[in-house]
Amino acid sequence: MSIKQLKDAELASMLKSSIQLKSLDGVEAPWLNLSDEDMQWWKDAKLGLFFHWGLYSIPGRGEWAMFNESIPADEYAKLADQFNPQQWNPERMAGLAKEAGMQYSVMVTRHHDGFALWDSPGSYGGFDSIRTAAKRDFVKEYTDAFREAGLKVGLYYSPMDWRFPGYFNPKELTENASLMKKQGYDQIEELTTRYGKIDILWYDGGWLAHTGTDADAAWFWEPIRLNEMVRRNQPKCVINPRSGWLGDFQCDEGPHDVTGNILPIAWEKCFSIPYHWSYDKQERVMPLDQIIKIMIDCFVRGGNVLLNIAPHPDGGIPENQVEHLKHIGAFMKKNGEAIYGTSAGPLQPVDHVYGMTCRGSHYYLHVQDMLAFENMILPPLEQKIIRCELLDGSLIPFVQNENGISVQIPKEKWEPLDTVVKMVAE
Ligand code: GLC
Repeated sequence: MSIKQLKDAELASMLKSSIQLKSLDGVEAPWLNLSDEDMQWWKDAKLGLFFHWGLYSIPGRGEWAMFNESIPADEYAKLADQFNPQQWNPERMAGLAKEAGMQYSVMVTRHHDGFALWDSPGSYGGFDSIRTAAKRDFVKEYTDAFREAGLKVGLYYSPMDWRFPGYFNPKELTENASLMKKQGYDQIEELTTRYGKIDILWYDGGWLAHTGTDADAAWFWEPIRLNEMVRRNQPKCVINPRSGWLGDFQCDEGPHDVTGNILPIAWEKCFSIPYHWSYDKQERVMPLDQIIKIMIDCFVRGGNVLLNIAPHPDGGIPENQVEHLKHIGAFMKKNGEAIYGTSAGPLQPVDHVYGMTCRGSHYYLHVQDMLAFENMILPPLEQKIIRCELLDGSLIPFVQNENGISVQIPKEKWEPLDTVVKMVAE
């Protein structure tokens, strides 16, 4: 369903949710949208790897350092002389993503600083990783390695670029702003024609002068024209909403709490394992439990999770991020049956207590807080349940009547984050 087709009741239920969809005001162009069938792999995949890595990883003060610290573009560009990563190993990274239970990935190919991590003739001033110290095409290495590992490959691209004064003043510095726009079109063309099948295109930063929304800047970027080009090059690519066009799915961003009802649209939450999107010298990470809790909160509301890591400037991945990925993998392995290929519901979640996913005649109850759940009765289900069991196969006693369903999960089977009960319907 497209966001514009939501009925009033559904919209009202969304408004009660803490999920913040960023680009609901995007311009419509239904002929650009993928069919439900073409979106299915993405909805089934549930979990993806995001990574922010580039020149900004070197100072280690976040990917906004150039702007936040008012570093002049020519000064910032000198970082490219030092960017020559020796520990970058996309095969290892793809292996880790798989071990974490991820089925797709999104690489930041060029952030707002303008440095392109590929051989980009369209880059303004030749600001890319081929024409500077590294002399390597990281997008090629990434797409080859991740595809080979069986992961779907996605590319993040920021149309805006702080190197252009026209970005900050597009109505007066029109010539300069149009150079930025030309770069955007040329680079999207490169990314969507030279690296084989691109499964996801993930825009960020279509807004202008850091004000308004991406859609407010549609007069400038012409996102319909831009994405018509993308569709010609990549007919089945799943496109996010942040170019100013509504896109194939909606985005929520950051580690805030997820509550409220199931969202009846395709949506994805992105957040980061480390405290920042990109490498920072303190190397702090979010507590693992908090990450997994947010993941479950999304899955039971129909959302995907795009989980970010922040490689070291030399390309290696800090050990505490690796450890988190491995634990997430163990969680996904144990509970994957109740996550991959499911839809949310049929029962609405009760915030942080339980939620549901389902596939065919199997209903998966995810109990997030056993103490709060212990004496609860689930609202009635239309379907007649013939068996309840845990994912290890042990049977669980249950009662289903006109008041609803109660299940008795023995204490020794309680899990701290997600006790999954599989309810099998007739
Ligand atoms: C925020 C950050 C940006 C990051 C993005 C990822 O918009 O400002 O730096 O790339 O989130 O979604």
